[in-house]
Amino acid sequence: MKEPDAGSTVCASVTVALEPEAAFEVLVQELATSLARYGLTFEPGANGRVVEDSREVGRVTAWLPGERIALAWRPADWAPEEVTAVELSLGRAEVGTRVMLEFRGLGRLLGDANEVTGWLSGEVVAPLLRATSPRAFGDWVTDRRARRPSGAQARAYYRDPLYHYPNFRVILDELALSAADVLLEVGCGGGAFLADALTSGCRAAAVDHSPEMVDLAREKNSGAVAEGRLDVRLASADRLPFPDATFTCAVMTGVLGFLPDPIRSLQEIRRVLGPGGRLVALGSDPEMRGTPAAPEPMASRLRFYGSEELERLGRAAGFDTVAVVRRDLAPYARVAGVPEEHLALFAGPGARFLLARRM
Ligand SMILES: C[S@@+](CC[C@H](N)C(=O)[O-])C[C@H]1O[C@@H](n2cnc3c(N)ncnc32)[C@H](O)[C@@H]1O
Repeated sequence: MKEPDAGSTVCASVTVALEPEAAFEVLVQELATSLARYGLTFEPGANGRVVEDSREVGRVTAWLPGERIALAWRPADWAPEEVTAVELSLGRAEVGTRVMLEFRGLGRLLGDANEVTGWLSGEVVAPLLRATSPRAFGDWVTDRRARRPSGAQARAYYRDPLYHYPNFRVILDELALSAADVLLEVGCGGGAFLADALTSGCRAAAVDHSPEMVDLAREKNSGAVAEGRLDVRLASADRLPFPDATFTCAVMTGVLGFLPDPIRSLQEIRRVLGPGGRLVALGSDPEMRGTPAAPEPMASRLRFYGSEELERLGRAAGFDTVAVVRRDLAPYARVAGVPEEHLALFAGPGARFLLARRM
């Protein structure tokens, strides 16, 4: 006879426009990153497993790339013999691949049908609805793409951020780096600006609060890292992990609008700059709101600053000389190789840059 609720199975599926092999690869990679965020280590592969606090909670029982992953899953440390089953299967759909999750056997552990329903509501349905409610979903998209980039698409973009190169060129012109400089970049993304800056012969350090961007920036500049000319750290802009007066100059591009406390971050930058240290920061122009440079849901999560507000930020942070300049990005966009049909994105009165210096 079947135990009560032994058959309770949770199912979820989604159809994605990817080939099964590609969908499998993304699934495995994203699962490993996401589980790590919850303190679970996923070791993929035919002999793979999932570990929590040094205890094996899941063991791979089937691993067929492009088709199926099955796990024997032990949710209860008080009843380690109770094994549930998790299965991820991929099958061809009319367009793309249908990815299906099945989780079987929780009913045995809970016993009571009300408890199973309660668990489903609280632990599956409510988190799903929360994750897809406007605030959380908009935050996820904003983080994923720009505020704390993660995922394969973000890594591909920030490795070679074509549309940011015009900003980089302006900043490099303003900084006029030499081999004597020690540069700090705050919010370095994939390290593309650093790669340009380092050609001056300077030394540099950088921070970003996205672990994937830190890895990417190190990888992109592996030569400079190996030579000890570049140090990239996982850190937040409001707590820079460097002693006072470490740098001769600092840069921030595409970051200011995301900072919850921009004055605090600018004060931190000022603290780590030595006497005469200079900062060049790309602004966050109100005119960008709702354009391809700052579309929703990012636009309503960004702070925008006009010239006066931007100048006020620099002064409030204690910089001794502060100026806001506008620079025409269009010529740089053409040189950088932005496609002709997108050059119009760079037209207009010019982007604002904060130029600040401490005595
Ligand atoms: C739009 S991306 C720009 C990346 C890079 N500067 C570029 O122009 O390609 C913003 C970057 O700033 C980082 N960032 C945002 N807020 C931050 C904070 N408070 N501390 C550290 N990094 C931050 C994000 O993780 C992301 O890599």
